[in-house]
Amino acid sequence: MPRRRLILAALPSLSILLFIFFVLFNIHVKSPRVSSLNNTITPREKPPSQVQFSILVGILTRPDKYDKRHFLRLVYGIQSSPIASIDVKFIFCNLTKDEQRIFIALEILRFNDIIILNCSENMNSGKTYTYFSSLPRVLSQRYDYVMKADDDVFIRLPQLALSLEPLPRLDLYYGFVIPCASMNPFVDYMSGMGFLLSWDLVEWIGNSYIPGNDTYGPEDKLVGRWLNTGDKAKNRFSNKPAMYDYPGTNGRCSHELIPETVAVHRLKRWDQWLHVLNFFNVTRELKLTNLYSID
Ligand SMILES: *[C@@H]1O[C@H](CO)[C@@H](O)[C@H](O)[C@H]1NC(C)=O
Ligand SMILES: *[C@@H]1O[C@H](CO)[C@@H](O)[C@H](O)[C@H]1NC(C)=O
Ligand SMILES: *[C@@H]1O[C@H](CO)[C@@H](O)[C@H](O)[C@H]1NC(C)=O
Ligand SMILES: *[C@@H]1O[C@H](CO)[C@@H](O)[C@H](O)[C@H]1NC(C)=O
Ligand SMILES: *[C@@H]1O[C@H](CO)[C@@H](O)[C@H](O)[C@H]1NC(C)=O
Repeated sequence: MPRRRLILAALPSLSILLFIFFVLFNIHVKSPRVSSLNNTITPREKPPSQVQFSILVGILTRPDKYDKRHFLRLVYGIQSSPIASIDVKFIFCNLTKDEQRIFIALEILRFNDIIILNCSENMNSGKTYTYFSSLPRVLSQRYDYVMKADDDVFIRLPQLALSLEPLPRLDLYYGFVIPCASMNPFVDYMSGMGFLLSWDLVEWIGNSYIPGNDTYGPEDKLVGRWLNTGDKAKNRFSNKPAMYDYPGTNGRCSHELIPETVAVHRLKRWDQWLHVLNFFNVTRELKLTNLYSID
C-alpha cells in the first residue's frame, strides 16, 4: 500500500518532467541550423532564435500571374534568416475577373500571403503609394522594414537580412541607387527592383501630404522625390555591387553574378532563373533518400 501511494504521489512530478523533456525536445527540433553532426555552434554563428528585426517583402504583381506566384513561393519559401523574421507577400490591386475571386481565394486560404489594395492595376498610377500608405492600416502588426520588390527579381533573404543588421532601424531608405553608375544614395532614388523603407517612413508616407499629392509617375522615382521633398531618410544605403540587373540586360546596372549578391533583377526568362538558382546553390540542401534521384 505505501509503495503504491508513493507511485501515485510521484505521478505529478513525473508528468512535469515529461513536459519539460517535451519542451526541450521541441525547442531542439525547431532551432534553426544547429549543426546536428557536431552540436557546437561555431563562434561566428549567433545562437538560435536571435531574431533582431522584422521585414515585410511585398512583391508587387498582378492577380493573373498565378504561375509566377507559385514559383516565387518556392523560391522564398525555402529561405529564412536566423537574425530576421521575414514575411513575403504578394501585392495587387482590385480583382477584375470572376475567376480570380475563386482562384485567388483558394490561394489565400492555402497560403495567406496576399494583400489586395484598393486601387486598379495600372503601372505608375499610384500602386506603390497605395501599398505603403495602406500598410499601417491593414496590417495587424508593424515591421521594422518594408520592402517593395518586383516579381522579376531574385532576393537572397539571408543576405538581405545580414546587410540590414548594422544599419539604422529608423529613417532608412535602402536599395540600388539610380543612375546605374551612381554611388551616392542621397541624389535621386532607389530602383524599383527592390527598395526598402523603415517603418517610420512607411507611416510618414501614409500621413504626409507630400506623397499624397504626388502619386502619378514612375513609382520608384516618386518615392525618392517624396523623401527628398520631405527632407526624410537621413539614413540611406545603396547596396552595390550586391544588387544589380542580370548580366547583359541593362547596361551599367548589370554585371556578372557574384557570391555576395543580395538581389538580381530582370529575370524575365526561365534560363535566367535557372542560371541564378544554380549559381547560388539554392537546391544544395536536397537530402539523399530512397524516394528520388536527382543528379
Ligand atoms: C566539429 O567541430 C570541430 C571543431 O569545431 C571540427 O574540427 C570538426 O570537424 C566538426 N565535426 C563535424 C562532424 O562537423
Ligand atoms: C477605394 O477607392 C475608391 C476610389 O478611389 C474610393 O471611392 C473608396 O472609398 C475606397 N474604398 C475604401 C474602402 O477605402
Ligand atoms: C476596389 O474594390 C472595392 C470593392 O469592390 C470598391 O469599393 C473600390 O471602389 C474598388 N477600388 C477601385 C480603385 O476600383
Ligand atoms: C495636398 O496638399 C494640400 C496642401 O497643399 C493639402 O491640403 C491636401 O490635403 C493634400 N492632399 C493630399 C491627398 O494629401
Ligand atoms: C556553390 O557551390 C560551389 C561548389 O560547392 C562553390 O564553389 C560555390 O562557391 C558556391 N556558390 C555560392 C555563391 O555560394
